Amino acid sequence: MNENVLLVGNSARGHAIAEAIIRSKPTPVLFAYMKANNPGIAALADKVQIGGYDDLKKITGFARSQGASLAVIDSEEPLKNGVADALEIARIPVVGPGQLETQLETSKAFTRELMKQYNVAGSPKSKTFRTMDGIEEYLKENMPCVLKPDGLTGGKGVMVQGEHFNTVDEALGICLDILTHRPTVVIEEKLEGEEFSLQCFCSGLIVVPMPPVQDHKRRLIGDQGLNTGSMGSYSCPDHLLPFLTQDDLNQAVDILEQIVLVLYLETGGYYRGIIYGGFMLTAPGLKLLEINARFGDPEAINVLSLLETDFLDICRSITCPRNYGKLNQLDIRFKPLATVVKYVVPVNYGLPKNQYVQTASDVIQLDNPGEARLYYSSVASKRTVIRLTSSRAVAVLGTGSDLAEAERIAEQGTRAVIGAVDHRSDIGTAALIAKRVRHMEKLKKTK
Ligand code: AMP
Ligand code: GLY
Repeated sequence: MNENVLLVGNSARGHAIAEAIIRSKPTPVLFAYMKANNPGIAALADKVQIGGYDDLKKITGFARSQGASLAVIDSEEPLKNGVADALEIARIPVVGPGQLETQLETSKAFTRELMKQYNVAGSPKSKTFRTMDGIEEYLKENMPCVLKPDGLTGGKGVMVQGEHFNTVDEALGICLDILTHRPTVVIEEKLEGEEFSLQCFCSGLIVVPMPPVQDHKRRLIGDQGLNTGSMGSYSCPDHLLPFLTQDDLNQAVDILEQIVLVLYLETGGYYRGIIYGGFMLTAPGLKLLEINARFGDPEAINVLSLLETDFLDICRSITCPRNYGKLNQLDIRFKPLATVVKYVVPVNYGLPKNQYVQTASDVIQLDNPGEARLYYSSVASKRTVIRLTSSRAVAVLGTGSDLAEAERIAEQGTRAVIGAVDHRSDIGTAALIAKRVRHMEKLKKTK
């Protein structure tokens, strides 16, 4: 009998997860619960239910009515709301951690305190404040720094000295603003280096890495402009990155293993799902910037398009009760190919209001993407008409035997999205990657 699988999520990452589910053998029946319709996911699903990610009754009711025997949660919002816990109570195994374990993403203060308490390597110097008491003194001694609000901010909440503020007074103003809206602010030493994302399958204490990916958060070519949810990403055929050694990668996996272990020691919570470490390689060593309790968007598209092992086999071993090591017994393989993802976004996405350009229409047309693949993100679709929203529209994936080929295919694919859109043509190019490598070499030399 075919397995009935529920996907909770509506992002481009969810579109890639839906594809991976459908590729599994025997072909399962996919049901999707989405906050807003994603036409890519809807096209793959047998049945779709639209509803809020805080409506636990509606989600569990939908899962039960469709006879789901497995659920995969795509994004942080349902995880934060306890959707994984609710589905588990309904006896449906879930790929996605419970509310308690999701704190690794939802509370930077929780993660930093946990790492400090158990001496986990890779934590930048940091201090958490719940009130303004002592912040001024701390800032005076610990500039340059970054200021991090607690809670989910869509990747846009972190304020970096030199970019968002310069003086102690400006930092104090930002801290006051953060503490007016959030329970804590974390003040962290400002690091310099190259960032990468490491996504791992995780079942209890077992952590299995996927190929590392480099993400591009800045809106404009040459890493200029404001931080966005991400403008694109790449991965390499050797499953390393041009500035990253196998040793660095092993260290990153080790840090994530320690984190799920100390999470268990501290809370009794077993982490089951995808764990994503946002790391920075610095001259003095590897540092962890953030944890996400889910795949990255678009990093999921990079790695899932390379996955050779049956995705549902992996999901079943993740949800296996307690930590009996089933995930360790699987031979998880990825194709030795390069991937480049470029996000096509509304032309005004991530720009300051004074730089907005007038657009005639928000309707986009989709042409043939050639060898590239398209993944829908935030678009509004009614019958055959597709409209832009204020967020990222379509992720374009290029895959090839090397980065040059993957980049060429992705770049060509972006031309298939016609309308008032933009993308970063430099993502995955040899010139940008060489700049990253030179940056790392320079930092290591001046250490
Ligand atoms: P996060 O949400 O913690 O990943 O932060 C978003 C972005 O802010 C990161 O991708 C980095 O570019 C930057 N960032 C975060 N923490 C630091 C840090 N300690 N030093 C320098 N930049 C940082
Ligand atoms: N690409 C960054 C994220 O998914 O959080």
